[in-house]
Amino acid sequence: MNGKNRIYLDHAATSWPKAESVLEAMSRFARECGAAAGRGGYHSAAAADLVVSSLRRSIAQRIGASNSDCISFHPSGTAALNAAIHGLVRPGDHVVVSAADHNSVLRPLNHLAQTQGVRLTIVPTDGSGLVDFQSLIASVAPDTRLVALTHASNVTGAVQPIAELGEFLRSHPAWFLCDAAQTFGTLPISVEDVGIDLLAAPGHKSSGGPLGTAFLYVASQLHRSFVPWMQGGTGSQSESLEMPTTMPLMLEAGNLNVPALAGWADSLQSWQSSEEVRRRMEHAARLSERLHAGLGQIEHLRVHGRAGILPIASVTIEDLAPSDAAAVLDAEFGIETRAGMHCAARIHAHLGTEQGGTLRISAGHTSAEFEIDAVIEALATILSAMHSS
Ligand SMILES: Cc1ncc(COP(=O)(O)O)c(C=O)c1O
Repeated sequence: MNGKNRIYLDHAATSWPKAESVLEAMSRFARECGAAAGRGGYHSAAAADLVVSSLRRSIAQRIGASNSDCISFHPSGTAALNAAIHGLVRPGDHVVVSAADHNSVLRPLNHLAQTQGVRLTIVPTDGSGLVDFQSLIASVAPDTRLVALTHASNVTGAVQPIAELGEFLRSHPAWFLCDAAQTFGTLPISVEDVGIDLLAAPGHKSSGGPLGTAFLYVASQLHRSFVPWMQGGTGSQSESLEMPTTMPLMLEAGNLNVPALAGWADSLQSWQSSEEVRRRMEHAARLSERLHAGLGQIEHLRVHGRAGILPIASVTIEDLAPSDAAAVLDAEFGIETRAGMHCAARIHAHLGTEQGGTLRISAGHTSAEFEIDAVIEALATILSAMHSS
């Protein structure tokens, strides 16, 4: 595993490689500081606090949130989404979600449907993974408490109409939860402009941070009706058996992973300016175009979805299971992709890929055009070998 001769095309799962400066920031924090945040008054504890509070401000600023107390940190996108859903949804509530959403949204909602009588409406997508917007808004009833829509499908890369949904929900009492796992770090987003009440994203995907990092934004007007989904030490009000009722402490029971947050903070610095954000977006869109154009030329291979801003493509191949295709790409060509359902239980019924899922190829900011060409050529070679014999 020395990174040589390895073409990594599984960025939708987690980005790799991480920048040297990210690894260095993590290592520096662990070696030179290493204190817990929010738990002491000595110098190194204050330094740990500073890492956390400045990262909170930096994320708030990037997502257009005026108050950094609205940002809490979590060990994964899944944990952040669970904090959002369990914090807000009550027994008997009605919730609307899309079939493009990830299991980190669908499973907690399904659990609440099974155990607390939550009424769930799952809105279909088209064959590219794009939600049916008319069905989505038609599903929102006067008593709907929450509408959850992923910013982009992790299976096909389809970017969902979140601005239109935000606009629609402005005149409706339902809260809007957006999962930006696949877009934070590639597409700009402004919660206040779009009208998003809850936004979650991991730090380890396109924002370039390490595993073990994620944030949840909870709009100020929701804080009083929120409940913490996990209880424990927060380093404050320790005499009380109750969790603090203020954000972000209410959602941050237990020690934060400060070394990882230090690495994430470093990675955010590399896309601070609007020019850099634009450059990343353009690079991603160019890779997407190249990937889809190349895959589209290969016979006996079907691409589910179309080129867009995110460099993700899901394919199925005649007479070759996605898992076998991924194994051959890895063993024979050193190309790492992912096969299966991609933790998205419902989208496959709309893509026609319920049997075995898809082979997903996903690039990132560090991916080069030659890597896209390599996977296209490898798939063409595999298919021509299968069909010449
Ligand atoms: C769309 C989407 N949402 C949520 C998640 C969960 O993030 P994490 O893996 O950090 O728990 C993922 C991870 O793949 C994802 O793709």
